[in-house]
Amino acid sequence: MSIKPTVQLKNVTKVIGKKTIIDNISFDIYPGEVFGFLGPNGAGKTTTIRMLVGLIKPTSGIIKICDFDVRKQFVQAMQRLGSIVENPELYKYLSGRENLQLFARMLPGVDSERIQEVIDLVDLTARIDDQVQTYSLGMRQRLGIAQALLGRPDVLILDEPTNGLDPMGIKDLRTFIRKLVDETGLSVLVSSHILSEIEMLADRVAIMSRGKIVKVGTVRDLVDALSSGVDWRVNDAFRALDIVKASPYVQSAELYDDHTIHTLMDESKTSILNESLLQAGIEVWTIERKVQTLEDLFIRLTGGDHIV
Ligand SMILES: Nc1ncnc2c1ncn2[C@@H]1O[C@H](COP(=O)(O)OP(=O)(O)OP(=O)(O)O)[C@@H](O)[C@H]1O
Ligand SMILES: [Mg+2]
Repeated sequence: MSIKPTVQLKNVTKVIGKKTIIDNISFDIYPGEVFGFLGPNGAGKTTTIRMLVGLIKPTSGIIKICDFDVRKQFVQAMQRLGSIVENPELYKYLSGRENLQLFARMLPGVDSERIQEVIDLVDLTARIDDQVQTYSLGMRQRLGIAQALLGRPDVLILDEPTNGLDPMGIKDLRTFIRKLVDETGLSVLVSSHILSEIEMLADRVAIMSRGKIVKVGTVRDLVDALSSGVDWRVNDAFRALDIVKASPYVQSAELYDDHTIHTLMDESKTSILNESLLQAGIEVWTIERKVQTLEDLFIRLTGGDHIV
C-alpha cells in the first residue's frame, strides 16, 4: 500500500530570457504533511509556487496536483488547490464574512454552511462580522487562508506566510497550521527565507538555492545529519590533515588554524582515527563533538548563501 502524493514535481525547469531560474527540481508532498520551502531571497521559491498554482508555465517538466497535470488538466488541478501567493485580496470596508461570501460566488457548491465551517476552522468566529480594516495582520492572514480553504482543497500553498508577523503571530500561525493539518489531512506548502520558522512549522523541508533543490528531508533528519561535526585539536594540524582526509570515516575535513581541523565524520569512529594520528606521531590534544545548527548545514550546502 502506498499513499499518493498530493503534489508532484518532476524535473521542473523554468528559463526566463537566457536565465535558468528553476533548474530541474523534483519533489513530492503527501497528505497531512507540512512541507517547508526554505531558501534565501531570489532562490526561486515564489517562481516555483507560481508554477504550482498555474500562474506561469514551466519550460519543461511535469507538475501534478492530486494526479492532475497542471498543464493538461488545469481546472481539475486548480480545484484541488488553495493558495495565497501575494497578499490576499481583501475588501477592507467589508466584514470578514462578506469577503468570504463574495469570493464564494465564484465557487460552485460553497454555501453559507461551508463559509461558517472555514470561519470556525481559522478561529475568526468572534470577529468575522467586523470590518476587515479593524483586523490585525495575523487575522487578515487567517481570513486569506479561510478564503483559500473555501473550495475544500487538498493542498494549501502559502508563500512567506510569516512576512510581517511578530513572534507571537508566527507562533499562532504555527499552532493554527498544525491544527488545520491534523483536522483536515491537508497538505500544506509554506515558503520562507527564515530558517527558524521553517524548523518550527514544517515536517519536511526542501532547501533551495539558486534555482536548485540542494536537500530534501525531515527537519529531524537534517538536524541529525548535523550532529557529526568533530573538531580535532592537535600539535601539527597541517601534517594531521593528510591523515584525517585519508580516513574512510571522514566525509570532509578542513584546516581551521595551525592546531585545529574541523571534520564531518562518523562519530563512532573517532577512536580509530585517533589511533592513526598517534601512530603517525601526532599529538592529539582534544577531540570535540561540535553541535551544528541547521544554518551551518545551509551554508555548507549552498556554498555560503546567507540566511537569517
Ligand atoms: N519574470 C522574471 N523575469 C526575470 N527574472 C525573474 C522573473 N521572476 C523571477 N526572476 C528571478 O528569478 C530568481 C528567483 O526569484 P523568486 O522570486 O522565485 O525568488 P524567491 O525565492 O521567492 O525570493 P524571495 O525570498 O525574495 O521572495 C530571482 O533572481 C529573480 O530576480
Ligand atoms: Mg518569494
